[in-house]
Amino acid sequence: MKINTKIINFDIRGDARGSLIALEKEHNVPFDIKRVYYIFDTTDGVRRGFHAHKNLKQLAICVKGSCKFLLDDGADKNIYNLNEPTKGLYIEGLIWREMFDFSPDCVLMVLADAYYDEADYIRDYANFLTEVTKLKSECK
Ligand code: TYD
Repeated sequence: MKINTKIINFDIRGDARGSLIALEKEHNVPFDIKRVYYIFDTTDGVRRGFHAHKNLKQLAICVKGSCKFLLDDGADKNIYNLNEPTKGLYIEGLIWREMFDFSPDCVLMVLADAYYDEADYIRDYANFLTEVTKLKSECK
């Protein structure tokens, strides 16, 4: 399984009236979009996520306000500050994620390449590390 995380910058189709960004499958979104969900009205101080996916591609865009994303591949941890609607955080592969520091006005929109499926979740960090070890030994 491929692991890939990166920031994607979106072109703004704006004019004197304001800004517009279009998200299109395989143009600036590197997968076939099957699902969109968004997180908003987040309670102050809340940290959420705490899971990895066995097989899911996602693109997270903070369309309003700001929040932080911790991505952990089992060896390295990186924190991304999502604070503008012009950039998206692409996440593919076995990556543990946590979201925190939501601003009160934050609207975090997430695009995904599959429908919601609880069976695709790993919600226990020890299990996640076991899966990472398995994956590494398969790739040797
Ligand atoms: P949860 O996975 O706890 O959110 P997070 O990972 O952001 O902390 O999801 C919250 C609830 O919403 C849970 O009951 C599952 C449900 N849900 C859906 O029904 N569809 C979805 O696409 C997602 C992401 C969650």
